[in-house]
Amino acid sequence: MKHQNRTLSLSIVSGKGGVGKTNLSLNLAYALFQTAQNTLLVDCDLGLANLDVMLGISPEKNLNDILDKEARAEDIVYSLEDNGLGLIPAASGVTDILDLDEDQQMQIIQRMENLLYKYNFLLLDVGAGISRTVRAFCQMTHKQVVIITPEPTSLTDGYALIKVLHTRQKIDDFHILVNMVDSEKEARLGFERIRAACAKFLQLEVGYLGQVQNDPAVLDSVRKQTPFFKLSPRSRASRDIMNVAEKLTQLRSDAMESIASVPPLRMGEPVT
Ligand SMILES: Nc1ncnc2c1ncn2[C@@H]1O[C@H](COP(=O)(O)OP(=O)(O)OP(=O)(O)O)[C@@H](O)[C@H]1O
Ligand SMILES: [Mg+2]
Repeated sequence: MKHQNRTLSLSIVSGKGGVGKTNLSLNLAYALFQTAQNTLLVDCDLGLANLDVMLGISPEKNLNDILDKEARAEDIVYSLEDNGLGLIPAASGVTDILDLDEDQQMQIIQRMENLLYKYNFLLLDVGAGISRTVRAFCQMTHKQVVIITPEPTSLTDGYALIKVLHTRQKIDDFHILVNMVDSEKEARLGFERIRAACAKFLQLEVGYLGQVQNDPAVLDSVRKQTPFFKLSPRSRASRDIMNVAEKLTQLRSDAMESIASVPPLRMGEPVT
């Protein structure tokens, strides 16, 4: 092992689509960067690239370029802010890596390894559902952030996702983030339902990362193609995101010892 690893990697996932993964991962990346933590955000929603649209940018290179062209990992990073906030976009409309196989997984891990050591946080915006690609990315990261909303279907789909990742992939480090809530109480209730189901049926404890309230600042920021954390730093959503970023910072400090001897991204269990 060349380095002692200090990069905490997180997959941002959800059972049901449209619950806010892309918005929350983007704004979390900005919040982490603001607290002086180098952060790399990777758009892993292959085929449905979103982050570049949310930012109104058209990067020349994307994740696909380190897979089939011989681009260097540094070359595919689009700098969002100097000195420490980077984005690796996904290739939209490209279907050949829609279904990430084991060789491609290995290629991503090996080719990105040296680049990743300079970041404190690596956030993967993974697509919704339980496809092979979703499972492969979750297998690669240290922790999984599961986004749910208080809607019953989002809760059941979130639980179903955790169940598959836990039983088939042996993944057990999940942290729940409840989005689009009207109150902290509503978020706590949503978390409690999924926590209780995981404890009862999977004998698995899941963590609570907090909530992000329903806030018109989010839609406004999507329309203006600027992260709400930058556009409306005093909005409710931005304050909530800052709290989540603080919890992630704590999680990283607590995990320092356990991640020191494992690389930022790893193969993990075979994805079946
Ligand atoms: N806290 C919030 N308050 C208000 N609107 C929100 C909030 N979070 C997300 N939204 C809205 O929900 C919609 C879906 O968000 P987003 O695209 O981030 O979800 P997603 O989980 O990435 O979707 P997909 O599964 O398609 O990738 C967007 O229109 C966004 O503006
Ligand atoms: Mg998305």
